[in-house]
Amino acid sequence: MDHAANRGESDPETGAGARRICQRAQVKRGVLLWQPGWVHHARDLGIMKHFRKKMAALAISLATTGPLLADDLPVRNCIWCHGTSAQGYYDAPRLAGQRVDYLVNQLQAFATHKRDEFLSTKYMWNAAAHLDPLTIRNLAAYFSALPPEPAMDGDSALAAEGKIIFENGVPDENIAACQACHGPEAQGVREIPRLGGLSYSYLKRRLEQWSQGHDASGIPMPKVGRSLSPNQIAALASYLSFVGGESSEK
Ligand code: HEC
Ligand code: HEC
Repeated sequence: MDHAANRGESDPETGAGARRICQRAQVKRGVLLWQPGWVHHARDLGIMKHFRKKMAALAISLATTGPLLADDLPVRNCIWCHGTSAQGYYDAPRLAGQRVDYLVNQLQAFATHKRDEFLSTKYMWNAAAHLDPLTIRNLAAYFSALPPEPAMDGDSALAAEGKIIFENGVPDENIAACQACHGPEAQGVREIPRLGGLSYSYLKRRLEQWSQGHDASGIPMPKVGRSLSPNQIAALASYLSFVGGESSEK
């Protein structure tokens, strides 16, 4: 992802890059200080076994009791890219308010390399590689419960055309009405994702990737994606970026 933090620069307006680098440095420092001093001593003293037992007990109690807290989950690893309230940041899409079942499916698709668009391979294959099924479900539930904010960053001149395609499809061109599956407010249902308020660039990239052969085993989006023209994609992505913004307009 070509954002400031990755290039080691700071965004002059928000300082976001610098903040992220700091967070990363803290994590790195923590690991470096913690491991050699602590673990090695503990191993020598034979208390690692005891420590592991304690950690296993803790893991079980976290898994079975209490509300879902960010501290109990590797959420920090995720919001580093997806933004502090998971509203999306540069190429990383908003996760807040997304459907639980959809999030679970996507995390599995990254882990099994089924979802294989360039940015997925570059960032999410690694991020999802070591998540066990329970952590995947808990992360999905956590992000799904955060309130979503609309990106509202599409071209407003194209939004009306996008709305027509979303609601009615284009029968002459064999394009299905998106709302039939994604819901009239683009809020999603079960494992079908919420689209309303995702960012223009993310929606556009997703709609393009299927006709480029990525994530090809998915049903039905490869077929839907292939039937859309670049103009129709721009219109749909524009319209959808504003959905959910009516009540939150300043
Ligand atoms: C290094 C940056 C980075 C990290 C760390 C990261 N992500 Fe991502 N994530 C991305 C990018 C970039 C994409 C978009 C991939 C694409 O466009 O195909 C993405 C996509 C996703 C998606 C797909 C969303 C959708 O609407 O289809 C999910 C779910 C997701 N990430 C969850 C997570 C979780 C959970 C974590 C923490 C365990 C995490 N990510 C950590 C960068 C990151
Ligand atoms: C027959 C049902 C169906 C129709 C019609 C449909 N979709 Fe989908 N869509 C899905 C499903 C299911 C997924 C999730 C695929 C997956 O899990 O990989 C999806 C995923 C998506 C995503 C990915 C969202 C994300 O967060 O990455 C976008 C964007 C999308 N659809 C846009 C559209 C648009 C625009 C239309 C209309 C032109 C449309 N869809 C029509 C079922 C449908």
